Amino acid sequence: MSNSPIGIFDSGVGGTSIWREIHKLLPHENTIYLADSANAPYGPKGKEKIIELSVKNTELLLEKGCKLIVVACNTATTNAIKHLRKNYNIPFIGIEPAIKPAALQTKSNTIGILATKGTLSSELFHKTTDLYASGVNVIEQVGEGLVPLIENGAIDSPEMEKLLKQYLAPMISNNIDYLVLGCSHYPYLIPKLQTLLPKHVTIIDSGIAVARQTQAILAYYNLSAQELNRGDCIFYSNGKPEILRAILKDNFTVEALDF
Ligand code: DGL
Repeated sequence: MSNSPIGIFDSGVGGTSIWREIHKLLPHENTIYLADSANAPYGPKGKEKIIELSVKNTELLLEKGCKLIVVACNTATTNAIKHLRKNYNIPFIGIEPAIKPAALQTKSNTIGILATKGTLSSELFHKTTDLYASGVNVIEQVGEGLVPLIENGAIDSPEMEKLLKQYLAPMISNNIDYLVLGCSHYPYLIPKLQTLLPKHVTIIDSGIAVARQTQAILAYYNLSAQELNRGDCIFYSNGKPEILRAILKDNFTVEALDF
């Protein structure tokens, strides 16, 4: 057993969609969340830079005594998790686009994936797609500009609606029945996406799967928190803490920190 915190990081506020599922499933766990908003977006950056930023975030979470780290960012997972696992002796949980369930369940044999350039161009993404979706028509779309708008608190803006309409158009005309959200920021767009997509399209993200995997790995290494533990959650942002506070809605501690 260990009441040390679970560390979670993302390029910004989006990984809170993953944190939310972890906190719901494991309310006794203490968590420390890092929003590296000063360096967002990670999506257009090269692999080396994404590794460098992921190492920086990992080092800080280790300094704060974390027992396990959740890389709550598809871009960082697909580009850097291999490096992190090789260099640090604690368990890492990553997040990848949920291509497999979408490919297994599609009836139109066509699925859409909205993700960052960094994720869609990664080796890990290509491997997963080849393995699970080789006979399926996969419409890939880079969500350029979506993360910066979310980081600026512009989820409900006309600019967001314009970009989403543009990105969904080829998917709708190709008759997708599943849309995979391959970026942890995008679950915050679900209400808007639902108004823009035909009713029969199912939207899938990876939050619940990551929370279940976290639970399983903690149990495997005997690292779960005690049932009586309070489950304190601390959030750090090196960008604008008020944006993180707004996205969390509840009354959690959000601190500004340079890292
Ligand atoms: N939340 C990150 C992801 O899942 C966003 C990437 C970015 O910062 O561009 O990919």
